Amino acid sequence: MDVYKELPRTSFSDNMLTGIGDDWMLVTAGNEKDGCNTLTACWGGIGNLWHRDAAFIFIRPTRYTYEFIEKNEMFSLTFFPKGYKKALSLLGSKSGRDGDKITEADLKVQYLDNVPTFEQGNLCIICRKMYYLDFVPERIPEEVMKRFYPDGDFHRFYAGEILKIYKK
Ligand SMILES: Cc1cc2nc3c(=O)[nH]c(=O)nc-3n(C[C@H](O)[C@H](O)[C@H](O)COP(=O)(O)O)c2cc1C
Repeated sequence: MDVYKELPRTSFSDNMLTGIGDDWMLVTAGNEKDGCNTLTACWGGIGNLWHRDAAFIFIRPTRYTYEFIEKNEMFSLTFFPKGYKKALSLLGSKSGRDGDKITEADLKVQYLDNVPTFEQGNLCIICRKMYYLDFVPERIPEEVMKRFYPDGDFHRFYAGEILKIYKK
């Protein structure tokens, strides 16, 4: 199996519009001692904050993964080759609270720089939390409120500094 190799930031050229929005990613946090959890995400971005390379994610506090992101300094974004949509659908519909969904999805956790990612991925972005803020209902358009927040489960926005990019 191919191994992850560090990619210089200047060589990063993946299309993140389709990579995140259409093909999805796993947001994973935890550590080797306490374990980790992951969720599928299709909202997010890659860019810059405070002159640092940054990744942006949106996580609802009801997700089990949220607890791992809160407790750990780092998180990873993992992208997969074609053929993993079924696994990502499973990880995006079941909660790690209710069982070992990672094994059920046939994925294997791999730690890079002590941050959890997956052996089967082909791109892994390692991030360190740098900022967060919570969505407030006053600034959400009414139609979005109705569609995405009928239960008031507002996302927490995290900006993470990109420390390393690994690619196969
Ligand atoms: C395609 C797709 C995209 C998703 N995007 C997000 C997201 O950006 N943020 C989020 O909080 N949940 C998102 N979810 C929902 C979580 O992945 C889902 O609730 C998951 O089961 C949570 O698992 P956990 O409780 O183990 O953390 C998405 C689900 C799917 C299928």
